[in-house]
Amino acid sequence: MADFLKDWKRSKMCGDFTAKDTGTQVIVMGWVQKYRNLGNLVFIDLRDRSGIVQLTFDDSTPSDTLAKAATVRNEFVIAARGIVRERGGNANKSLATGAVEIGVTELKILSEAAVTPFPINDDVTNANEALRLKYRYLDLRRPILKSILLMRDRITTAVRRYMSDMGFIDVETPFLGKSTPEGARDYLVPSRVHEGKFYALPQSPQLFKQLLMIAGFDRYYQIARCFRDEDLRANRQPEFSQIDFEMSFVENEVDVMIIAEGLLKRVFSECLSIDLPDTFKRLSYADAMARYGSDKPYTHFGMELKDVSRIFENTEFVPFKNAVEMNGSVIAINLKGLCSQITRKYVDKLTEYAKSCGMKGLAYAMFKPEGVTSSFMKNLSDDEIQALIESTNAQTGDVIIVAADKTRLAQETMGNLRVMVAKEFKLIDESAYDILWVTDFPLFEYSDEEGRFVSTHHPFTAPKDEDLDKLFSGDLGCVRSKAYDIVINGQEAGGGSIRIHQDDVQQRIFELLELSEYDIKERFGFFVEAFKYGTPPHGGLAFGLDRLVMLMTGTESIKDVIAFPKVQNASCLMTQAPSPVTAKQLDELHINVKEGKK
Ligand code: AMO
Repeated sequence: MADFLKDWKRSKMCGDFTAKDTGTQVIVMGWVQKYRNLGNLVFIDLRDRSGIVQLTFDDSTPSDTLAKAATVRNEFVIAARGIVRERGGNANKSLATGAVEIGVTELKILSEAAVTPFPINDDVTNANEALRLKYRYLDLRRPILKSILLMRDRITTAVRRYMSDMGFIDVETPFLGKSTPEGARDYLVPSRVHEGKFYALPQSPQLFKQLLMIAGFDRYYQIARCFRDEDLRANRQPEFSQIDFEMSFVENEVDVMIIAEGLLKRVFSECLSIDLPDTFKRLSYADAMARYGSDKPYTHFGMELKDVSRIFENTEFVPFKNAVEMNGSVIAINLKGLCSQITRKYVDKLTEYAKSCGMKGLAYAMFKPEGVTSSFMKNLSDDEIQALIESTNAQTGDVIIVAADKTRLAQETMGNLRVMVAKEFKLIDESAYDILWVTDFPLFEYSDEEGRFVSTHHPFTAPKDEDLDKLFSGDLGCVRSKAYDIVINGQEAGGGSIRIHQDDVQQRIFELLELSEYDIKERFGFFVEAFKYGTPPHGGLAFGLDRLVMLMTGTESIKDVIAFPKVQNASCLMTQAPSPVTAKQLDELHINVKEGKK
């Protein structure tokens, strides 16, 4: 093995050859993408990370080399020495290196390869996903996945450069820690030394980064691994990465937002040559919900929600009347200009969706040239109809859909329907980036499950100064926070907040969250104590790195941006993790697995 590559040094990567190299003696190495054996003429497409170059063996090739070339098969790893030649009239325009080929004089087979379970090329995206994940190292040979991971590297490199330029210090924080309060379920690691005790893998470095501010680091960042045991979706993985940062002596949210805006601007410019605006749009949570029915709204297309409850204050139409009487809302959307494309069947589909969200139904009116077809207008007074038409600006060719229910349910359902319709009728410009801030989130939300208020973000998020009083007197549901999310193309790409740095406010929040002295001490006693010793006002944010890479590479599945991802049930099809362990290991960890679960 030692002599395998003696005196053989690679001149260049495969994808880097151009006509300028013509006439030079080179050595290349890589995998065989494809071979064609025409007897006295053999072509091999040689692939590496950078691309493909054609190797040619012909009558100028020494006969032993030509004979060896004939034995090469797909995915063999080979090294070739030869001369770069121009292909002239045979140039392959679809290949970046297609202007040249390498006329091989010497060939080494470095490693043979068994027939792969699926062909290695980008046309096989429909090959069974489970099979591709089982052989992920083969899947990763495909240029498309490789290009995504190369882009991920460019993004993280740009991030590191920017954060460093802005005075942020990269500090690592522990994986083996205590449960953090991000709200998902923890992954636990049993301790061998401390019987019956567990570490929790971090849901985020939240507590540590705040402690670094107390420690005087001023500006911290980290590309941090986070672990959350939650239901997986197309944009969620149990272990994922954040671009996490925290900064001291911030006056308000804007100080942090400026850094995040600068970061995205730099990354988009360096990696995609896209010039983003200096500041992004801002929308309060209340406006986002009222206009788009979502706290991660897609704002690139119209079809905004319209609260038409006032029109129906004295209505006789029971569904609308009930909603208004229970302090809910009647919400309409004008699906502008879609009447000729929307069928009754499609309206039924939208209604079914509304029902699956817990609504009783969905009212509609189709403004056809020959007249209006509607499920509910016959039940309204002329004045109500007139007011509804005016306030939704309904015209011939439009369709109105109307939902009446508890406000949040009606808003969220209509928000989802809005996006469903936009996707169905291709109203979303996939090539553009719709980036905005959502601010002024409620500090607490009521959990029906727990029967009490819980933190919308985490319990260290500062309330708005204007709403501080309400912490002590008013309606908790109305207290707004200094939290902000960054939304890109309808996805939450990042979020953060200004933190509480006053002891009394923090104590009050704990009280409101019904955390007992004991809970506080047990769960974050060390953290609360640290605040006693001089705490700078501070705040920060974390971008979901994987989601950012998805958005920047136009990928639909988070699995495509992670080298070794998990599947829906949080397992790894390649390594078979999680897997059983030996009785001895369990014993050392003082764990008794229930009979039948081993
Ligand atoms: P948050 O919980 O909002 O904030 O997380 C920040 C961002 O991380 C991404 N994200 C995920 N990405 C992939 N898979 C997941 N399971 C997953 N969960 C979250 C999202 C999200 O916007 N400590 C705070 C930040 C702060 O306050 O500074 C935090 O973790 O893009």
